[in-house]
Amino acid sequence: MNHNIAIDGPAGAGKSTIAKRIAEKLGYIYVDTGAMYRALGLHLLRSGIAADDTEAIIRASEDADITLSFEKGEQIVLLNGENVNGLIRTEEVGNMASACSVHAKVREKMVRRQQEMARTRDVVMDGRDICSVVLPDASVKVFLTASVAVRAKRRFDELTAKGIACDLSEIEADIRERDHRDMTREVTPLKQAPDATLVDSSDMAIDEVVDAIIGLR
Ligand code: DC
Repeated sequence: MNHNIAIDGPAGAGKSTIAKRIAEKLGYIYVDTGAMYRALGLHLLRSGIAADDTEAIIRASEDADITLSFEKGEQIVLLNGENVNGLIRTEEVGNMASACSVHAKVREKMVRRQQEMARTRDVVMDGRDICSVVLPDASVKVFLTASVAVRAKRRFDELTAKGIACDLSEIEADIRERDHRDMTREVTPLKQAPDATLVDSSDMAIDEVVDAIIGLR
């Protein structure tokens, strides 16, 4: 049987950094499910569809073929065959991803794809519904979080390091809004699964978090 590690948590909790390191250490594949919702967000923005136009979102999601492939351990997100890795990390795309992910029809298709990926190989998968819906039988289940202030500061430092001008209080407001939407949506809202271990990384170094999660195996 293959081994899977499921990590859920809010935006900016450090899921992708942590999951990537764990995957490297254990020789697993890292699957970033948020990238799939982001690819759909990009598709919607390109199509000029508004975040509140449910019908158009569902129609557009039907003709967006979103798949992940892996090259030398790196995840490549394909939107109708186009590599969109370099286009999906903006706040605009992230917010659209959050908005379109509230729809059950959108989620069903994504979840199926994600489950197929984990069936045949060992994966570390992160997202919002991995412990509860996508991989309820994962060998390790973690809810990774950190305070809003810490998450905002991390995002601010990340953007500043890339030379992108930004405002800490705007980032904080954005995170609060995204948390609210992800946690209050009707379909599989973000919450800690009853059997997931809570890891609060607010005062932890990256390696400490990685070791704590690996130690749960
Ligand atoms: O993890 P992220 O910031 O890249 O995710 C972008 C959005 O996608 C997030 O705000 C909510 C949605 N998402 C989701 O609903 N379910 C997942 N498994 C992953 C992401």
